[in-house]
This record gives sequence, structure tokens and C-alpha cells, in this order.
Amino acid sequence: MGASETAKTIKVLAVCLGNICRSPAAEGVLRTVIEQKGLTDRIVVDSAGTASYHVGRPADSRMRAAANERGYPLDSMARALSPRDLRDFDFIIAMDRDNLRAIHQLGDTRQGCARLFSEFLGPEWPRDVPDPYYGGVDGFEYVLDMLEAGAPALVEYIVNEKGVQT
Ligand code: 4NP
Repeated sequence: MGASETAKTIKVLAVCLGNICRSPAAEGVLRTVIEQKGLTDRIVVDSAGTASYHVGRPADSRMRAAANERGYPLDSMARALSPRDLRDFDFIIAMDRDNLRAIHQLGDTRQGCARLFSEFLGPEWPRDVPDPYYGGVDGFEYVLDMLEAGAPALVEYIVNEKGVQT
């Protein structure tokens, strides 16, 4: 790319059910990996939920506490996934298979745009990032473990797919 050309920002959206536990945490972990790789100007992250029960609320206090402890401040407010998101985002990353189905039911996505987070994890991890909402503290820690394990490979994938110079 020539010096006069401006690189397009790549937009990534993490999606779960309520947008108060898993996807805000994914947003926080991904943002940290992006910062560590010096890609803040090239890749932006947001999150949304397939349900609207918690729209306008901050992330669940249990998830915020667990994430803060690991150095991820979560400051997003819950919002519902919209058909427009399917056009606006380059990558839509579903936390579980129900979320992925709901994304596809909302409308057409660009080829290869909607992915399951666990595609970026080794086989020792489950297919779905488990919903921690009705469980104990361990569930929130497990979600963060999974996100930390997969986020670097996801960012690497985006970099390779989009030919981002690192
Ligand atoms: P999330 O977790 O999808 O990871 O944000 C949930 C939050 C709230 C509910 C379910 C899952 N709920 O049923 O209210």
C-alpha cells in the first residue's frame, strides 16, 4: 500500500446471548491482544447480544470483577445485535452455536464473516463458550480462560485474512 492510501479499519463484533457476560469479556480480551500487537489503528472491536433483555446495562458485575482482576476493564453497555451489524462488521464472532444460528437467522452475512469463537481454540476446549450467568464464580473464570486461549489465534487469523502489516 502506498503512503497516501489509508488502510481500512477492520471491524470485529463479539456476540453472545445477553451481551453482559461472554461477549463483553471477549471484547476486552481481544482489545488487549490487539493493543499488544500494535494494531489498535487497524482493528476495532465491539460486542452485542442476540437477545435484548439487558440492553443499556453494563456488563454483569461478576464478569467485570473477574475480568478486572486479569487486567481487562469492561466498560461496554449491552446492546442488541441488529441486521445492520451483519453489513457493517468484517467478522462476527459467536460465543456458542445458538448465537451463531441466531446471527444467521437475522439475515445474510458476508462469506466467512460469522465464525464460532472455538474455531480458534485447540481440541481440548469445548465447542461453545459456556454461559456463566446462572452458575458460580468458576464459570466466569473458565470463560476468561477460554477467551485468553483463543484470542491471539483469532487476531492472527484476521491479520492473515486481511493482509494486515504487523
Ligand atoms: P451472556 O450471558 O450471553 O454471556 O451475556 C447471559 C446473560 C443473561 C442471560 C443469559 C445469558 N439471561 O438469561 O438473562
